[in-house]
Amino acid sequence: MAAAPGRRAAGAGHIVSRTARATKRRYAVVLYGATGFVGRQTVAYFAAHAELSASGLRWALAGRNADKLEQVRAACAAEQQADILIASADDHAALDALARSTAVVLSTAGPFDLYGSALVAACVKHGTHYVDITGETPWVQGLITRHHATAASSGTRIVPFCGFDSVPSDLGAWLLMQAMQQRHGVPCVDVKAAFTVRGGLNGGTMASVLNILGSAQAAAFADPFLLCPPTRRPTDVSGHADPTRPRLDADFKAWLAPFFMGPINTRVVRRSAALLGYGDAFHYQEYLRLGAGPLAAAAAASLSLSMGVGQRAMAWSGVRALAAALAPKPGEGPSEAAMDGGSFRCELVGTSATGQQLRGRIADRGDPGNRATTKMVCESALCLALEPSALPAGPGFGGVLTPASAFGVVLVERLRRAGMTLVVDA
Ligand SMILES: NC(=O)c1ccc[n+]([C@@H]2O[C@H](COP(=O)([O-])OP(=O)(O)OC[C@H]3O[C@@H](n4cnc5c(N)ncnc54)[C@H](OP(=O)(O)O)[C@@H]3O)[C@@H](O)[C@H]2O)c1
Repeated sequence: MAAAPGRRAAGAGHIVSRTARATKRRYAVVLYGATGFVGRQTVAYFAAHAELSASGLRWALAGRNADKLEQVRAACAAEQQADILIASADDHAALDALARSTAVVLSTAGPFDLYGSALVAACVKHGTHYVDITGETPWVQGLITRHHATAASSGTRIVPFCGFDSVPSDLGAWLLMQAMQQRHGVPCVDVKAAFTVRGGLNGGTMASVLNILGSAQAAAFADPFLLCPPTRRPTDVSGHADPTRPRLDADFKAWLAPFFMGPINTRVVRRSAALLGYGDAFHYQEYLRLGAGPLAAAAAASLSLSMGVGQRAMAWSGVRALAAALAPKPGEGPSEAAMDGGSFRCELVGTSATGQQLRGRIADRGDPGNRATTKMVCESALCLALEPSALPAGPGFGGVLTPASAFGVVLVERLRRAGMTLVVDA
């Protein structure tokens, strides 16, 4: 790879002591939004995590409602391991106290544009590392503007997008870049990903999508380089536009359609490319994989059309109100059986400027927006809590980062140990 993640700024002498202080805090991790649909699953994941229990580290559940938090903790039989902290999303004093008490905050309280900004500001103020499962790119662009420089100089890792959006895309592209350099001594100039997904919809996800579409953020959402530093934006971005049509892809030998998460994941991978120096020629795109044959071709065509029509229709407030009425409500989501029956598979092809190709695959069983998301965000938080010195660029590195730039191989290995497939073919 052309460059390691940036080191902390020179002259930031307070950084080491602040990082050392973080390791001495009362809690290793605070799970904020623990009463939500995904939040409850993060509590269950932590309560059952043998390595975390063996570490003896203390953790806590946090949110705005004490009774609900007690119920969630009792349902996971976590009373001996975890405390409860109360902090509403707009209570700055309580969020300050929460951020001061822990080395890491893991947040699942969304829409993040509504409930996340004061929490991140408190984390940056107190040098507390932060991970979440947002897919709200315009909100993260605001975090970059307000907090990247301070978090970089204090060695604080603020890492959004640690769920299904966008860990498979970001680690997948990063793994192919690493492997291409190691095996052929050159970078990938093109990486493309094709997803197969079986899963359900959470009320919180729908609320977040509707919040973006109903606000002035929709235009920013369409910018392919929204999350990149201005100096790393190509002058002509047209070659990076989101796909809108079906295509028969020779590498995947399959019909592909636009992937509904592409407008999120591609921005995150491009930010990793800028932070990690993938090179100016780097190109990343992703798709939904439909398969081969005329039925798959028809499905790709109708999905492309319905995505285009659906996006235009959702610009109307009446259509959004109808979608909100029909969708699950905040706090709701798929049944246990549906979540267990879900799965995802992300196939990747990386190509160098001289034509060498590598293939990779990231896959897991379980609903990607719940089971895989819970695994990915919890293991991201545990990278920070349990392995801070092994992280890319060392413990003093910080900023508003991406999963690949913040965690790299440490998260890859943790997810493999947790049963997820992350491979580059021989
Ligand atoms: N990356 C991914 O793949 C992925 C997957 C799933 C979800 N998500 C995102 O994750 C977020 C949560 O999804 P979900 O399905 O878990 O949503 P949810 O069930 O509606 O949970 C929302 C959480 O936010 C809390 N909250 C609401 N208002 C608050 C306030 N004023 N102060 C403090 N906490 C407040 C809720 O607390 P109460 O219980 O007290 O209301 C609840 O804990 C959404 O933004 C969604 O888009 C991402």
